[in-house]
Amino acid sequence: MTDPWQECMDHCVEIAKQAGKVIREALQGDIAVMHKSSQVDLVTETDQRVERLIISSIKAKFPTHSFIAEESVAAGAPSILTDDPTWIIDPIDGTTNFVHGFPFVSVSIGFTVKKEIEFGVVYSCIEDKMYTAHKGKGAFCNGLPIKVSGQEDLSCCLVLTEVAFKKDQQHLDSMMANLRSVLTIPVHGIRSPGSAAINMCLVASGAADAYYHLGIHCWDMAGGTAVLTEAGGVIVDISGGPFDLMSRRLIAASSAAVAERLASHIVDFHVGRDDAH
Ligand code: IPD
Repeated sequence: MTDPWQECMDHCVEIAKQAGKVIREALQGDIAVMHKSSQVDLVTETDQRVERLIISSIKAKFPTHSFIAEESVAAGAPSILTDDPTWIIDPIDGTTNFVHGFPFVSVSIGFTVKKEIEFGVVYSCIEDKMYTAHKGKGAFCNGLPIKVSGQEDLSCCLVLTEVAFKKDQQHLDSMMANLRSVLTIPVHGIRSPGSAAINMCLVASGAADAYYHLGIHCWDMAGGTAVLTEAGGVIVDISGGPFDLMSRRLIAASSAAVAERLASHIVDFHVGRDDAH
């Protein structure tokens, strides 16, 4: 039977490539930085331009589809996941890295149908690594199959997370407590690459064994969720319960054992939901 979403996935890969080229070219010039919710929540004209490029190209081909996209939501668009075929887009995941020329910058696109991830594409455009995954068909990096490490012992894991000060003391204290709790398990190490989508692909390809994050958004996770699960990884909520794309929390791991044990070491704190308003 032909796959009804294959054409969408092929288009997604093409548009991610084009977006990556625009981002690489923008890195050659001056980057004007603007701020969104705080002094450390950065956005550039390139984020906005790339998002317009991606959405207009998809709309021209698939006019009935829905969108949840980072810069549109920042400008007031709703962030509600429905049963419609929906493109969930982060035009530049790792904007702070982009601003500084730190080489982990990705275009992240996930596609859902009836609220389930159908496929995901994460293009790490400075490294020129195109991660792709389509439900039931495996995960790939530049066309070659990838899989998770399969590590089951948390104390042998390289763990990823992100650290940022959100102007909220409780958030900072909980984040630091979690770092301390995970470091003292002990694990082999903690790394913070700066692009959630790339973090998920690093776990998917076995370069890291686990990733946890509170305060992330659906557009940071959607593309990588497909890649991680198709690579044999496990995604759960930070509590260890079922993963919810709109919940702003996740643990992505090489095995259920690692996900479960990591969940038992992480203190929960309130981050709200993407679909709260
Ligand atoms: C950010 C990155 C970063 C994470 C932030 C995200 P953006 O995405 O994924 O790793 O720490 O929480 O907002 O804003 O660069 O698209």
